[in-house]
Amino acid sequence: MTNTKKRLLTGLQSSGTLHIGNYFGALKPFLDIYQDYDSYLMVADYHALTSLRDPAQLRQNIFNVVKDYLAVGVDPEKAVIFRQSDNQDHTELGWVLDCMVTVPFLMQAHSYKAKVDKGIEPNAGLFTYPMLQAADITLYDIDVVPVGEDQRQHLEYTREAVGKFNRAFGEVLKEPKEMILDGVGIVPGVDGQKMSKSYGNTIPLFGTKEEIEKAVMSIVTDSEGDRPENVYAIHKLLKSEDELAPLYEEKKGRYGDLKKALIEDLENFIAPMREKRNQITDDDVKSVLAEGVAKAKRTSGQTLKKVREAIGIDLG
Ligand code: ADP
Ligand code: TRP
Repeated sequence: MTNTKKRLLTGLQSSGTLHIGNYFGALKPFLDIYQDYDSYLMVADYHALTSLRDPAQLRQNIFNVVKDYLAVGVDPEKAVIFRQSDNQDHTELGWVLDCMVTVPFLMQAHSYKAKVDKGIEPNAGLFTYPMLQAADITLYDIDVVPVGEDQRQHLEYTREAVGKFNRAFGEVLKEPKEMILDGVGIVPGVDGQKMSKSYGNTIPLFGTKEEIEKAVMSIVTDSEGDRPENVYAIHKLLKSEDELAPLYEEKKGRYGDLKKALIEDLENFIAPMREKRNQITDDDVKSVLAEGVAKAKRTSGQTLKKVREAIGIDLG
């Protein structure tokens, strides 16, 4: 029987501690549907190398991200959990895709421009980042990629590279689509900017109660009116607007009380996952990754074989 399930993949960089923006932007949409697809969940550790030069930290982050994946409830029997750097097919196809797109095209990438605008000296890996991501996706014939709003352009870049490749060499690679959940948008950090590992404005997904309290109490609330918008934006990820309406009516203008209510709801949401996470060992992580990469390579190897034939480096 042929497998007719569509394919799903997402990935997170192992560049720091995951936060609730990562959860609601990428992990939750993945969790909601992954059992209906052939699913892949990747640790983008070579992408993390574009911003991190600390081997002990990178190693630790890799363990942490896989523990986070397992603790939020991803079943390694039902999704292929693997690490980008364990499968060299990614860097190989990444190179091929680099050769499909132009320098001016890559220079337009928002993620690249944002880093340059912040004064970060861009390494060449940061510049070609979108093509490594395009390889992550196309190696597995992926149909759907759940991501946060900020990744929309990376999916456009992937489709552009696929189009260029297929026009030059025949229909080998599949065009993926992003899946961006309505109502999530960009989760604000405690300062009201996009919550991001690199901005130090996060509510950590597996923070201790104290860390969560500290983060929530520091949410900037200089908005006008009855409702602290940055608090509400995070609160409505946990409860529906209808559920929140009576609370926000009763505590109108009392920002401190609303923050306390948010802390309680965050704690109820995080505590069971935190408990589960504490049971997961480094050895569990290693065995999940070893099984994952073996499965991943079976699929990516087939795609790469077709690519090598198509571009003319397979000598027969
Ligand atoms: P960060 O900006 O914290 O480094 P990543 O770039 O590693 O996060 O993003 C991992 C995933 O989480 C991506 O799919 C991204 O779109 C999503 N994501 C990150 N930050 C947010 C946010 N503030 N709101 C919604 N989704 C987010
Ligand atoms: N660029 C993504 C981010 O910063 C991480 C990522 C790498 C990814 N490869 C991917 C996401 C493939 C989806 C699919 O969030």
